[in-house]
Amino acid sequence: MTEAPSTTPSLGHNHPGPEITYHDFLRTGPDTIGGRYLRSFWQPVHRAEDVPVGKAKPVRIMSEDFVLFRGGDGAIRMLEARCAHRGAKLSVGWVEGNDIKCAYHGWAYDGVGQCVKQPAEPRPFCDKVKVRAYPVQEYLGLIFAYLGEGEPPVFPRSPEFEGDKYFTLLTTDVWPANYWTQLENAIDYAHTEFLHWHFHFKTPSRIDVNETKYGVKVCVPGLSDTSIDYDTMYLVMPNMHEWAGPPGKDPTMGNFARSWRIPLDDESHIRFDYRAFPFGDKNDAAFRDKVVERNPPRDQGKTGEVAQKIISGEMDLQMIKDDPTTYSGPFLTTIQDCTVMTSMGPMASRDHKEMLGQTDLGILHLRRLWKQELQAFAAGRELRDWQRPSSLWDAMAPTGNAAE
Ligand code: FES
Ligand SMILES: [Fe+2]
Repeated sequence: MTEAPSTTPSLGHNHPGPEITYHDFLRTGPDTIGGRYLRSFWQPVHRAEDVPVGKAKPVRIMSEDFVLFRGGDGAIRMLEARCAHRGAKLSVGWVEGNDIKCAYHGWAYDGVGQCVKQPAEPRPFCDKVKVRAYPVQEYLGLIFAYLGEGEPPVFPRSPEFEGDKYFTLLTTDVWPANYWTQLENAIDYAHTEFLHWHFHFKTPSRIDVNETKYGVKVCVPGLSDTSIDYDTMYLVMPNMHEWAGPPGKDPTMGNFARSWRIPLDDESHIRFDYRAFPFGDKNDAAFRDKVVERNPPRDQGKTGEVAQKIISGEMDLQMIKDDPTTYSGPFLTTIQDCTVMTSMGPMASRDHKEMLGQTDLGILHLRRLWKQELQAFAAGRELRDWQRPSSLWDAMAPTGNAAE
């Protein structure tokens, strides 16, 4: 990694193909180059358990609206949001069998979007009516969708997260910040010692940034004073990162995690965090209870609410620091992150200058990879085939092998 520190978000003009700017990373609507690129991958769109059998849910992803519903057979379907008749939202309608019926005049659609019923219209009108349906898959407790054009790519799996080896937790939240802010933060190790005062991390003296076959690996040896696993962060292209949660005083609380950051629109994103706890017995109820106790569920949006209060001046970080009972563990960490990231403003309109230093080399590398990919995508050239190894976290397990 040799790129020199930069003073602005500008990405230069020396590459062939259409010029891609920093703002192309931030805007993800259906007609944007960044949005079309992200849509060319499978993306998680909802927690699976939150869509029970016989229910429909509205979903907004990358400034587009959809409806998810689970039929009587237990399978998930995803359609465009609006009924083809007069445009009512299908999510306010009824799931009947494996179809969804619009609440307005009762037109019903099956899982491939075909209209199958129109109570007040004679056939064959119904046969000519269709809404768009999207390929979906359930995996790791999440509903993934393919929102791009053409055939979806092969669904990427990660064996070390699957199955019943470890106790796992899946959490989700929505933050009022552009998703890209979080991707850059994921490989910004300089902030962990300062912003997250409760980590007791060290000031990094050296940062190693390497491009890998799946994205960017950033390592700050000695940062956590625990093990190299907790000093390492992986940015898996295009919008996923993996990291390890330090154990604190209890070694069994060490964990590794995969996090997806999906734009809801250009000013907010949904987060899915999937964590595996390899140092305890998943069949031990006391161990499971301890993990859950230390990672209690939170109301969606609560973190963003507190962050907004701090940004507006109604609260401040000292108040948070002075109340370690209310603000501790993962809740404290997310408030700290969400506050600074939201304070940077909706990045889709961000135009302030930056003064990047050597601890920002990971960010520069990520921007460079994304720029290369968006240029290739815009020009119709072949994209890189990002391949995450199936054993990124094996080394962390008690009987692990070396990580790649
Ligand atoms: S708007 Fe849906 S059936 Fe009329
Ligand atoms: Fe952080």
